[in-house]
Amino acid sequence: MNIQWNAEGYTQNFSFVHEYGSQLLSLIDGRGLSVLDLGCGNGALTARLAQAGFQVQGLDASPELLETARRNYPELAFRQGDAVDFQVSVPFDVVFSNAVLHWIDREKQDAMLRCVSRALKPSGQFVFELGGHGNNALIHGALERAFARRGLTYRMPFYFPTVGQYAARLEAAGFKVTDAHLFDRPTPLNGQDGLYDWLCMFIKSPFEGIDPATREDILWETVQSLREALLQNGVWYCDYVRLRCRAVKESEI
Ligand code: BEZ
Repeated sequence: MNIQWNAEGYTQNFSFVHEYGSQLLSLIDGRGLSVLDLGCGNGALTARLAQAGFQVQGLDASPELLETARRNYPELAFRQGDAVDFQVSVPFDVVFSNAVLHWIDREKQDAMLRCVSRALKPSGQFVFELGGHGNNALIHGALERAFARRGLTYRMPFYFPTVGQYAARLEAAGFKVTDAHLFDRPTPLNGQDGLYDWLCMFIKSPFEGIDPATREDILWETVQSLREALLQNGVWYCDYVRLRCRAVKESEI
């Protein structure tokens, strides 16, 4: 799914996405390798990879985020491309991806994995993290109820697989899964309207065709209904669940 990003708001309020993503770097086995940062966004993690000594290139579909990435890191290479339909001229040692793959429709996941496989050298590594099964379950449940109260259907815009589901896809795409870990990561959000701001930044497609006043009502009702579960000592938390994996290319299909 390609959406229009508010690159500045994302960079200012949601920097935790790449800060947590730094932990993922340690799953890469080897030094000085060539790395494709798939869904590089504003380039913050691409820069972290470069600092760690990797030869990096960032790829993203969003012109807004790429503009921010190029402005902030003019010394790094970024290019526009769609994760489910891209090619590289020289294969990489590693494809790396943080907090991106859950945006890709489940029906397009296998096409994306084929592109990743073709972008890797033999025995290349695919190191990634995405929202896993149960990710933001409280938030999506509350949205679903708020939509239903108005006779509307909430269409889940993300794919949050289990370890088993994703390992099966990886194996079918010719990868050997060496690490797969599903874990809870409750995450504090910035500001007293942290959850409202999160919803505005990330929940877009379910509101297509809904008038702005109804959208506002739904957002505030969702926020109110989650106060007890997600507001602690004045800080909003997001109920993130991560699926973190490393897989090695065994064959190309
Ligand atoms: C995530 O990183 O898990 C995520 C971020 C925004 C929307 C949905 C999921």
